[in-house]
Amino acid sequence: MKYLHDFTIVNNERQTDDFVVLTLQYDGALPRMMPGQFAEVKVDHTPTAYLRRPLSIHDVNYEQNQIKLLIQEVGDGTRTLCALPAGSRLNLMYPLGKGYDLPNSDKVLLVGGGCGVAPLLFLGRHLKQHGITPRFLIGARTASALVRLDAYRELGEVLVTTEDGSMGQKGFVIHHPVMRTDSPDFDWIYTCGPDAMMKALAKYARHRDITCQVSLENRMACGFGACLCCVTPTQDGHKCTCVDGPVFDSKYLQW
Ligand SMILES: Cc1cc2nc3c(=O)[nH]c(=O)nc-3n(C[C@H](O)[C@H](O)[C@H](O)COP(=O)(O)OP(=O)(O)OC[C@H]3O[C@@H](n4cnc5c(N)ncnc54)[C@H](O)[C@@H]3O)c2cc1C
Ligand code: FES
Repeated sequence: MKYLHDFTIVNNERQTDDFVVLTLQYDGALPRMMPGQFAEVKVDHTPTAYLRRPLSIHDVNYEQNQIKLLIQEVGDGTRTLCALPAGSRLNLMYPLGKGYDLPNSDKVLLVGGGCGVAPLLFLGRHLKQHGITPRFLIGARTASALVRLDAYRELGEVLVTTEDGSMGQKGFVIHHPVMRTDSPDFDWIYTCGPDAMMKALAKYARHRDITCQVSLENRMACGFGACLCCVTPTQDGHKCTCVDGPVFDSKYLQW
């Protein structure tokens, strides 16, 4: 079931030069959402972003009927959203798409890069509620681009890589010591981030018989399967990322 709801922004917290967290308040009971699902967010007051923008559900508080969005400014749409002050209204079509599955093992690794870290906080909370302690591996260009590490640390261990070595291990996530072994201590990888990162993780998982669920960030327009602009090649032909995904088993994709 999809909903079209107006929210009030109750907090706009800048994290870094280009990341903001918006806390949104709904004045009724929130529908149930799955981690990995997303919202199509209406962007008002800009002539260029006339289509809604897809953003992952970053966190949910059902008691307070609040949702958080973690937004990276990359263009007019996200810049406009990040500039909205508390008190502004925001219209969301949500929850959309297919989210992450629960694992059949409690040894899981959640790997994020860039704005791809957004869905992993809600996923980590969901896993914890199911008795599974998540472990995060987060990659960024440099230390100042890492966002909300404390929020992830409240749920589980957080491992970090930076390309310039300014925090954690130097290099990409795939170079972290937890990955550099033929007998890793995790059976599931959940990931969201740049395609190159997720493809490297998918290859790693394939060679070790590990389940790897990836969340694709293909460009989207309608968000509900009508325009076909978000299709991705799979073992069963082209599938819409917005309804059949954004989360897929990496083995199902033609990577
Ligand atoms: C399912 C899904 C979930 C997403 N979740 C989040 C999230 O939680 N937080 C977040 O910050 N972003 C997320 N994104 C990406 C976000 O939707 C885009 O960054 C946003 O739509 C860009 O809009 P814009 O108007 O700011 O930029 P535009 O003016 O549309 O584009 C600016 C630049 O960004 C590039 N770009 C735009 N969209 C994408 C994309 N999807 N992938 C790669 N490059 C892109 C364009 O090619 C262009 O170079 C998600 C995308 C999808 C599909
Ligand atoms: S965005 Fe229109 S079909 Fe997926």
